[in-house]
Amino acid sequence: DAYQFAPLLIGYLLGSIPFGIILVRLAGKGDLRATGSGNIGATNAVRAAGKGIGALVLFLDLLKGVAAVLVARHFFPDNAELFGATGALLGHLYPIWLKFRGGKGVATFFGILLALNWIYAAIAFGAWLFFFLVTRISAAGGLMAAVAAPVTALVRGDDTLFPMLLGFTLLIWWKHRANIARILSGSEPRFGAKRATAE
Ligand code: G3P
Repeated sequence: DAYQFAPLLIGYLLGSIPFGIILVRLAGKGDLRATGSGNIGATNAVRAAGKGIGALVLFLDLLKGVAAVLVARHFFPDNAELFGATGALLGHLYPIWLKFRGGKGVATFFGILLALNWIYAAIAFGAWLFFFLVTRISAAGGLMAAVAAPVTALVRGDDTLFPMLLGFTLLIWWKHRANIARILSGSEPRFGAKRATAE
């Protein structure tokens, strides 16, 4: 109904702000979509403009998810925060400003989890960190973090969050399909590798 459309739309508009493109351009490093993986997220911003800009992109993309949930929670009734969360992720993945060619959703997903329930964010971050440190592949961390969230909901018996988080996970995996293919063929660039495009 109309009550849920507003937080969904507000979330979408927040999520669709392409901070990666904006900050890398402001840093004088050109179009983020023309470097590395071509993705507009923090991982590729590190490749294009270094760790400082990358950290800022991570923070702001995460903040979009936090803001969408908090705005929905404070200004709209019932389970509006779930609509705010869904809007934010869809906005990041499919921003109208970029002809719906957006990012892969990991940072915004973390922001959503943080605002919904920090326990989910902590567990997902643990998964990200573990798989990133083992593989040095950012996408591997993101993919496993995305799986950790609905598994957590399942274990905790959270019937409200589980279907939404599972949907988010499927979207994030779909957006990582090129990364998955490269991981399986052994050609996904690793951070810290000597001859990597991911430096
Ligand atoms: O969050 C995006 C990350 O998981 C993968 O990014 O640039 O390596 O495709 P990228």
